[in-house]
Amino acid sequence: MERCAIGLVGWGTVGGGVVEILARDRALFHDRCGLDLQLKTIVTKTPSRRRDQAATGARVSDRLEDLTGDPEIRTVIHLVGGIDEATRICRALLEAGKNVITANKAMLAMRGDELFALAAAKGVCIAFEAAVAGGIPVIAALRDGLVANHIDGIAAILNGTCNFILTSMESRGVGYAEALAEAQRLGYAEADPTLDVDGTDTAHKLAILARIAFNGRIPLTGIRVEGIQSITFDDIRSARTMGARIKLLAVAQRRDQGLELRVAPTLVPLDHPLASVNANFNGIVIQGSAVKTLLLVGPGAGALPTASAVLADLVDVVTGRYQFTASRFRFFRSDADVPLVPEAEELTSSYARFTVPDRAGVLAGIASTLGNHGVSVLSVYQGAPDPSGSAVIEATTHPQRGGAFLSAIEAIDRAGLTIKPTVVLRRL
Ligand code: HSE
Repeated sequence: MERCAIGLVGWGTVGGGVVEILARDRALFHDRCGLDLQLKTIVTKTPSRRRDQAATGARVSDRLEDLTGDPEIRTVIHLVGGIDEATRICRALLEAGKNVITANKAMLAMRGDELFALAAAKGVCIAFEAAVAGGIPVIAALRDGLVANHIDGIAAILNGTCNFILTSMESRGVGYAEALAEAQRLGYAEADPTLDVDGTDTAHKLAILARIAFNGRIPLTGIRVEGIQSITFDDIRSARTMGARIKLLAVAQRRDQGLELRVAPTLVPLDHPLASVNANFNGIVIQGSAVKTLLLVGPGAGALPTASAVLADLVDVVTGRYQFTASRFRFFRSDADVPLVPEAEELTSSYARFTVPDRAGVLAGIASTLGNHGVSVLSVYQGAPDPSGSAVIEATTHPQRGGAFLSAIEAIDRAGLTIKPTVVLRRL
């Protein structure tokens, strides 16, 4: 039996899941891979607040040096959130020659290049399955299982908080604020959910997936990001009328000119597999040149699902399997810049909701403006006018250049054909 002394820094929700599985399922690792995984030292800012120290069997400390200075600990699980402090800790661990397993997607998306370079210089590795989609082994799928595929596209629901809120708005018929409050009450949303609902967390995860899938640098600034804060129950209801459901999607699509990258609330047709990924689940559709379409669905957050991913990395690292992959494959190491397609050149289907005065010629004016901009309409729906004399016209389009569609909408609003700014969403 190979004994491995492990360190942990950061003892929050996911850290708790790691401690629980290591204590409860030690025999599983013995039986599966001949490993005796021993959590030797836990570093946390607040050891005195932890009443459950004895149960871990580990030494609990508030000094990072108890990890960096311990030659017996060669691998450290890094579960520290945020960016600056997390990066400082990660750097200190790498400098000390420790392999690092992290769940911190913001740190990797923003500082990954410098951290991977440092790891390579020190002859150690950084493993990060838990950084994207919690318990879904999507990093391993892209890295290993799909190695024989050019990746043509990824469309994914990568934030459980947003998916819970959107699902709840639809199933309970409530507005955004009420659905968010419920997500917070049930513990799905953070007290400060800004980075979830504004799309930032999804963009960090998309940057990591795209770096692996398309083998090049992905600057975060190259991802256009819209959140779900301005989605209303009217949007949700309209989507249903058009046979779709609104999801916050991360999209990476390979085109001849380069890669389209965006995070945006998107109408997903009801017969698309991502339309059925509800509540706090994550779902990822990968288009591979050989495999064609692959769907991965599962819990994208939570203590035990995320710990499952952390411990998969741990086994890979302590057996040396991960180091082999990291050194052999150009995985998160390519310096090539992936050409990105600007928004105006993106090829997407769209949805627009026009609020118009109920009078002759308005529909014709909208149709001719769309036509004059080269926008080809897929479907149109007009509801009955309300007593004040306004009516709602909804249209979806065939895929076309995003720039043409947005110019047409601007022209329609500017021409006074509408009485409110037109609502525009992407359509998958
Ligand atoms: N807050 C994220 C979510 C999980 O709601 O999916 C961690 O990235």
